[in-house]
Amino acid sequence: MSRLLKKFNKLLDYCFNHFEDTSLAFDNKRIIISNREFLLCRALVPDVAEMTQLQKLVYLEDNSWDEEIFESELRNEKSKLYLIMRQNDQLVAFIGASFNQNTRDAHISNVAVKPDFQDHGLGKFLIETMITCARYNNYSSLSLETRLSNIRAQKLYSIIGFKNIGIKKAYYQSNHEDAVNMKLLIKNEKELVNG
Ligand SMILES: CC(C)(COP(=O)(O)OP(=O)(O)OC[C@H]1O[C@@H](n2cnc3c(N)ncnc32)[C@H](O)[C@@H]1OP(=O)(O)O)[C@@H](O)C(=O)NCCC(=O)NCCS
Repeated sequence: MSRLLKKFNKLLDYCFNHFEDTSLAFDNKRIIISNREFLLCRALVPDVAEMTQLQKLVYLEDNSWDEEIFESELRNEKSKLYLIMRQNDQLVAFIGASFNQNTRDAHISNVAVKPDFQDHGLGKFLIETMITCARYNNYSSLSLETRLSNIRAQKLYSIIGFKNIGIKKAYYQSNHEDAVNMKLLIKNEKELVNG
């Protein structure tokens, strides 16, 4: 391979590995929801134990992820974004999404709010934050699946603007329950201005 081609390949490699890194960057924020202050930040590997515990708490079925799966998700910083919310150092909620650079779809894989913090707008806030991140990074849609029986989650997603686009038969391994497949198309700035 010629030296010029090698240089070009190095440059391409740099672009893929560095520019994508920054595209899912997320700065810590202090936020107020229902008069309560929370810290919103990107999840890091040391958060995994608490995330796993929280997931086990909210998913009554035995189908939650173990720590290894969360760890590998968090290490994939270029295409996965996990956000956590803390109150006084206690992890109270998190959301995770996988950003597919080819389809320009951000797939929400996980959203969980600690039971005594539910119904105060945290879930809605986290989903809307993920939509903002997707829009900021020029993604064109968000998608997710939810259990057919999870009416509460479906209602929340519909309020936010997700549309039911079909059923995935026997999607969940634990009890072969069907999943509702939902999608939200992201409007670009021009469409937002014109309604
Ligand atoms: C589904 C889940 C993430 C929703 O999170 P949440 O924080 O309870 O949801 P929100 O409070 O944002 O929204 C729930 C309700 O509160 C309302 N709400 C929104 N903002 C609010 C606010 N500031 N104050 C009070 N209520 C508010 C919403 O309109 C919604 O109303 P509804 O009861 O008529 O549906 C949460 O219940 C959960 O972790 N469930 C278990 C895991 C799960 O099912 N995850 C989804 C898998 S696909």
